[in-house]
Amino acid sequence: MTKLAIIGGTGFAQFGDLTIIKREQFTTPYGAPSADFITGELNGKEVIFLARHGNPHTIAPHKINYRANIWGLKQLGVAQIVAVAAVGGITDVMTPAHIAIPDQIIDYSHSRLHTFFDDENYPLTHIDFTYPYNQKLRATLISSAAKANINITPIGTYGCAQGPRLETAAEIKRMEQDGCDVVGMTGMPEAALAKELGMDYAAVAVVANWAAGKTGGEITMAEIERHLHVGMAKLAELLKAFMTLA
Ligand code: HPA
Repeated sequence: MTKLAIIGGTGFAQFGDLTIIKREQFTTPYGAPSADFITGELNGKEVIFLARHGNPHTIAPHKINYRANIWGLKQLGVAQIVAVAAVGGITDVMTPAHIAIPDQIIDYSHSRLHTFFDDENYPLTHIDFTYPYNQKLRATLISSAAKANINITPIGTYGCAQGPRLETAAEIKRMEQDGCDVVGMTGMPEAALAKELGMDYAAVAVVANWAAGKTGGEITMAEIERHLHVGMAKLAELLKAFMTLA
């Protein structure tokens, strides 16, 4: 049976629907993962849950030990990763609380430890990254949304900003011109690291707010929390359906 993991992000530090079987904590050659690896069961399927920012949410996007997280999941035998990401909406359809299954990435992050292929542990390999997300896993997520009756956008380009600050209006304008539909802070290097270790990886982007400059006003944490509350409830239904299809 293919081992599945869900990485939870902002607004999804705990997977409440999961019946917990065990918690594991270990360090890796890359240091400590963000949180315990929680093995649980939902709809008869086993899944490992990891809170990317820690639980409670304390680790900033640029401080997340992405390598330890991905290496740890690989060590536990995980072959498929569904990554949940809170994002800002850039293009018109990406309204707050909407969900998208992105198909492309533009990486604007920097100064992060972003590869396993920089020491003697692994031979240097230039992975193909033409399609950063696994197409089959994306297709299953898209079917899961249909099964759960949730309206989603089945494509989109995810722009990964450095954070932890939100963007300027001009930065979002540039990202839109580049072709980004949503903006987050944690999609990279996570997706590339999973691919380096040969794991299937796809993301579910939950829109928390209109990106900077889109409303004319400023972005407040209160609005982010309000929209994420609605978006994450939909996400939970999508994931429940996913567990029966994966
Ligand atoms: N920008 C970057 N990351 C985000 C945003 C945003 O507007 N909202 C939620 N995560």
